[in-house]
Amino acid sequence: MTNMTPVTKGAPADKPAVKAMPDAQTVTSVEHWTDRLFSFRVTRPASLRFRSGEFVMIGLMGDADPKTGKQKPILRAYSIASPAWDEEMEFYSIKVPDGPLTSRLQHIKPGDEIILRPKPVGTLVHDALLPGKRLWFFATGTGFAPFASLLREPQTYEDYDEIVITHTCREAGELTYGAKLIDSLKDDELLNEVIGEGFWKKIKYYPTTTREESAKMGRITDLMRSGEAFADLGVEPLNPETDRAMICGNLAFNLELKEMLDGYGLEEGANSKPAQYVVEKAFLD
Ligand SMILES: Cc1cc2nc3c(=O)[nH]c(=O)nc-3n(C[C@H](O)[C@H](O)[C@H](O)COP(=O)(O)OP(=O)(O)OC[C@H]3O[C@@H](n4cnc5c(N)ncnc54)[C@H](O)[C@@H]3O)c2cc1C
Ligand SMILES: NC(=O)c1ccc[n+]([C@@H]2O[C@H](COP(=O)([O-])OP(=O)(O)OC[C@H]3O[C@@H](n4cnc5c(N)ncnc54)[C@H](OP(=O)(O)O)[C@@H]3O)[C@@H](O)[C@H]2O)c1
Repeated sequence: MTNMTPVTKGAPADKPAVKAMPDAQTVTSVEHWTDRLFSFRVTRPASLRFRSGEFVMIGLMGDADPKTGKQKPILRAYSIASPAWDEEMEFYSIKVPDGPLTSRLQHIKPGDEIILRPKPVGTLVHDALLPGKRLWFFATGTGFAPFASLLREPQTYEDYDEIVITHTCREAGELTYGAKLIDSLKDDELLNEVIGEGFWKKIKYYPTTTREESAKMGRITDLMRSGEAFADLGVEPLNPETDRAMICGNLAFNLELKEMLDGYGLEEGANSKPAQYVVEKAFLD
């Protein structure tokens, strides 16, 4: 682990540092999943506490202003994909070809530094939900990231009898990060020890694609409306007495699903007022 003191690399011992990157953390590993998706792990600030499901601002220093020579950080919101107990921090990222941050972030390598502002926030947290029996995680694209954290969080299995994770992507390759992570849970030492062997049987995983052939095609919203998703999963439609939900996807998805959950009689919650479901955007627009 490292601390959060400014990094002043390359300054000779007898001279004051001229360039400092605040809140720097070191990249420890990078994995590319498709030409649009990658994940990476970084050192964790020793004093950073967060709740599984929260997000932080991360980024890189921008180019120097040609006039002033000053560099400004390019920062973006990122869900923390690792659980609160992990000694490192993991992120799951899009690569936007001309995106100010990700056009550069996609090239990071172990040993490089990124900026990580240690102020975690967010609504996709257990504290924002009232007790229930079945927890639904609804994701599209990189909206899987907060659930990668919550699926590795012991409280998820302590608080619920059943966890349903739905992930809708355009193409099959975009499901791989999530599929591998869910498969790896069977061998998760901490969860097996704390929750008990076979805890993973509580998970029902429902991946779907919309633009490439896969085992299950279609938007989760349409599959729920037709009843197909519930029949496939062997569960009843959501019921405010028993079901709780977290939503993380693009804006249209979030709005459509929110309306559906309202229709099932669930109420939206927040940190300040826990209720039956919570929503967060996977990206702006
Ligand atoms: C609360 C919150 C949490 C977020 N968590 C994540 C995360 O865990 N992983 C992640 O990759 N991004 C996440 N984002 C989006 C992230 O903040 C940036 O937008 C993204 O990293 C692209 O940055 P950029 O500077 O390259 O491009 P930007 O200028 O920020 O975005 C350019 C365009 O790319 C598209 N875009 C941006 N992000 C995504 C995305 N994730 N998936 C698909 N299209 C996208 C949008 O159309 C956007 O207008 C989150 C956003 C919010 C608001
Ligand atoms: N993924 C790619 O291969 C790709 C390639 C080039 C550019 N882009 C651009 O990148 C941006 C983000 O793409 P993305 O694929 O990560 O995210 P996205 O466009 O938000 O789509 C992710 C998944 O969510 C589904 N979805 C969208 N709206 C929904 C709704 N209202 N209800 C239910 N499901 C919904 C999509 O289905 P549908 O397919 O039915 O919309 C898709 O399967 C877009 O601006 C896109 O143009 C993406």
